[in-house]
Amino acid sequence: MNKNLRKAVIAGNWKMNKDRTEAKALIEEMIPLVKDADCDVVICVPYTNLETALNLTEGTNIGVGAENCHWANSGAFTGEISALMLKEMGVKYVIIGHSERRQYFGETDETVNQRVRAALDAGLKVILCVGELLEQREQGITEEIVSLQTKVALQGVTNEELKNIIIAYEPVWAIGTGKTATSEQANEVCHIIRVLIEKLYGKQAADGITIQYGGSMNAKNADELVAQYDVDGGLIGGASLKASDFAVIVNAASK
Ligand code: PGA
Repeated sequence: MNKNLRKAVIAGNWKMNKDRTEAKALIEEMIPLVKDADCDVVICVPYTNLETALNLTEGTNIGVGAENCHWANSGAFTGEISALMLKEMGVKYVIIGHSERRQYFGETDETVNQRVRAALDAGLKVILCVGELLEQREQGITEEIVSLQTKVALQGVTNEELKNIIIAYEPVWAIGTGKTATSEQANEVCHIIRVLIEKLYGKQAADGITIQYGGSMNAKNADELVAQYDVDGGLIGGASLKASDFAVIVNAASK
């Protein structure tokens, strides 16, 4: 990462984990361990833990995010939560387009774009996830897939709005599998995304945007991954569920 140009962000993605009691314990343990971080620290938690997370992190350096939001402000969408509802609670970030949403819940590049739009309109910061499947990597089309996902997701997003977007490159084959991309692979695709951003928005925007790596990043491999020039932190699943591991990753990005 290049801290002169942009911010490193370490974000936890708790997925569908932790009940309220467990969430409280994890956050309380985490607060003192990450308080001196020289990077932005975010935890994205299940909707049911947002209130707890917001209350406990008030006055700390930890930002709170949700793991998804709907594209409409309100309406007949049973089971969904709008970006405005999140904003009104005090939530600052939202993950959009995570591969598990694409894989299990029919999320498409177009609905990702609609959700990105809604989140930006509500004043949330977006963690936009993109990444190729294993067969796509093996076919040699990683660049095409990741570029297409990024381009469609950012349709209609202005230069000014781009400042509220973090892109997370998450190769699907590395998520929850223990198979991390090598630091070279991570850097290569983060760089491809940065070059695309330069084409779409210009050099200043490309230099300034935070591009994370995600996929089995952990306390052991974080140092090497975040040391890469184009890797500006990480989106952390499994390892964000243990305060001490998450803190090691935050410290790696603080160097
Ligand atoms: P993982 O998940 O760190 O458990 O691989 C990353 C993610 O899905 O955001």
